[in-house]
Amino acid sequence: MAFGIDFGGTAVKGAPVDPSTGQVTAEVANVPTPNPATPEALRGVFVDLVAGFADVEGPVGVTVPGVVRHGTVHTAANIDPAWIGTDADALFTEALGREVHVVNDADAAGLAEVSHGAAMGRSGLVVVTTLGTGIGSALVHDGVLVPNSEFGHLEIDGRDAEDWAANSVRVAEKLSYEAWAARLTRYYRTLERLLNPDLFVVGGGVSAGWDDFGHLIEIDTEIVPATLRNNAGIVGAALAATQVSG
Ligand code: BGC
Repeated sequence: MAFGIDFGGTAVKGAPVDPSTGQVTAEVANVPTPNPATPEALRGVFVDLVAGFADVEGPVGVTVPGVVRHGTVHTAANIDPAWIGTDADALFTEALGREVHVVNDADAAGLAEVSHGAAMGRSGLVVVTTLGTGIGSALVHDGVLVPNSEFGHLEIDGRDAEDWAANSVRVAEKLSYEAWAARLTRYYRTLERLLNPDLFVVGGGVSAGWDDFGHLIEIDTEIVPATLRNNAGIVGAALAATQVSG
């Protein structure tokens, strides 16, 4: 067994996960994200969350919306800058008194979708993108994750792609689905040209509304919505922690 924590902009969600099936095995616990969402503030939240599942053993995985190398967070595009340079694995392992591993949020979603979701059993290169506040990306080749790809920050017309095509931009600029999909077409065509993937998976909260915009994205590569929806972060975090802890 393992425990997955999804640290998001509005809520922190956690649940035990069976890594062999990708199933969440208890009701997901949900607490509001503290403000400011610093590593110190999150430490207390994680301790309380995990304490509610005292009988669950195994490693704990935590998603972070930034680059994570060897347990240290290196970027913070949409989160508190205090995360930059924080050895989060060490901080949370000490606080929880058990093994904790942080993983980029999109990489967690990628692992989850390839192991138990929309890209299950797919070979070749799968590119998972999450469209939310920012844009996250995960590259998975023959089931193996290449972490920290950060294609949300691809430069298109001199702009960060996520500042132009994320779901938060659609909402802020009140874009129609047609207008947003035109931007997504440009974005995915750029990725297509650079990466030549076999499949795109589109995750993030917006994947639930796929029928409204998915068919408007005009690219040559197969593109499908994520299937794990709200639990992709929790499941992916637990899978990542299990892989690292062996
Ligand atoms: C961050 C990524 C993250 C993505 C989605 C981007 O701004 O740089 O690390 O995966 O947002 O949260």
